[in-house]
Amino acid sequence: AFMHEVMGLNVLEKQLQDTLHVDNIIIVPGNSDELNWVKQEMGKACVSFLEKHLTSRQTIAVTGGTTMAAVAEMMSPFHDNRASLFVPARGGIGEKEENQANTIAAKMARQANGSYRLLYVPDPLSETSYKTMIKEPAVIEVLKLIQGSDIVLHGIGDAITMARRRKTSETVIQKLQAENAVSEAFGYYFDADGNIVHKVRTIGLHMDDLSEPGPTVMTVAGGKSKAQAITSYFKQGKSDLLITDEAAAEAILRDN
Ligand code: G3H
Repeated sequence: AFMHEVMGLNVLEKQLQDTLHVDNIIIVPGNSDELNWVKQEMGKACVSFLEKHLTSRQTIAVTGGTTMAAVAEMMSPFHDNRASLFVPARGGIGEKEENQANTIAAKMARQANGSYRLLYVPDPLSETSYKTMIKEPAVIEVLKLIQGSDIVLHGIGDAITMARRRKTSETVIQKLQAENAVSEAFGYYFDADGNIVHKVRTIGLHMDDLSEPGPTVMTVAGGKSKAQAITSYFKQGKSDLLITDEAAAEAILRDN
């Protein structure tokens, strides 16, 4: 029975690769909407992929969210003591402390015996403060590390779910609804065709930083409720690897 399950997931992986046009897909069994350990399984898959592909001491930029927090929990030291430098991909974007990119970067570094640098920026950030902050030498220094990162680890969320979780203003939520926002990643909101419809004002990685020859981008997102969001991100978003779960994979394939 176990072998059948493994073979079944291999078939799903191949189908999903063709549907989403991603080079690498890893699917773990289950539905992370219902069981939290499925997120940890995705986390484990992410850590072993890193273990195999991390070449030397590299800079890894990470986003926030509960999935990335699960990846951090599963993180362990890489062999040959290849310690890495972890940085948050973006500043605060309204998440609870445990789901903030800063917290996750620090936790990953601790678990991997690596080091970290953090971005101390107020959240949310006004236009005026933003313009002043990005001129601060300490911010510029971390920003350079982020923009030059070798690997980007990120999650994808359902647009309205994320906006509400981040206590986004009603005005912005109405804008997101009017523009038919479907997914969210890195503080960017996308419609069903993958067009950017809104962006949270914070310091850090911008979509342009991901274009070729850019970093290796690893996406971790699962759960049936994220099927549409995942499809939307992959319409235009850059990613070299998607780690997801069976429930999301089946729902994506059914709807496409
Ligand atoms: O950017 C995407 C969201 O941070 C995903 O959050 O992993 O808690 O669903 P989540």
